[in-house]
Amino acid sequence: MGWVTGVEPNARLRTLAASRAQDHGVPNVSFVDGLAGGLPFEDSSVDLVWCERVLQHLNDPHAAIDDIARVLRPGGRAVLLDADQGTRIISDLDPDVASAFIRASLVAVANPYAARHIPAQVRRAGLTLDVGSAAFIFSSDMLLRSQVVQRAADDAVESGGLARDVAAA
Ligand SMILES: C[S@@+](CC[C@H](N)C(=O)[O-])C[C@H]1O[C@@H](n2cnc3c(N)ncnc32)[C@H](O)[C@@H]1O
Repeated sequence: MGWVTGVEPNARLRTLAASRAQDHGVPNVSFVDGLAGGLPFEDSSVDLVWCERVLQHLNDPHAAIDDIARVLRPGGRAVLLDADQGTRIISDLDPDVASAFIRASLVAVANPYAARHIPAQVRRAGLTLDVGSAAFIFSSDMLLRSQVVQRAADDAVESGGLARDVAAA
């Protein structure tokens, strides 16, 4: 059986992750403090890196991907999954309102176009690339339940991109 190490800088999320692993009876995982770009692993020591929805939060995603390349053993693999806020699709929404959401999302994270930059960053880091992409479409129902989208609506109102009554509707 392999060993999985989760790297998480937020102490509260580390504790939550450890407790979920325990609840699910997962014995081969630990969670450590650390940052993307400074992974607490030796060079060429890791078989697989899974980095999901982290690059969008980083000021220096290049450094993070270079560091992933550093820790991967020869023949190892990295799965880099991220969002591209500029191409977000929200179902059943007036296109102008959707555009206001998207504009608000662009300032909400450090690296809003994270996904589209991954191929060039991966090549620059000397890794071999295998690209895939998928569209995740929010339904109206998910839209109403999503705190993230509600926050984006509030941001769009605050930045003047969306009238409050339109956001509420
Ligand atoms: C949107 S969550 C994604 C969590 C998880 N990977 C998932 O897909 O469910 C973003 C995560 O990135 C972490 N994060 C933010 N800045 C980071 C950094 N500089 N280095 C490493 N992780 C970071 C956050 O603490 C959070 O756990």
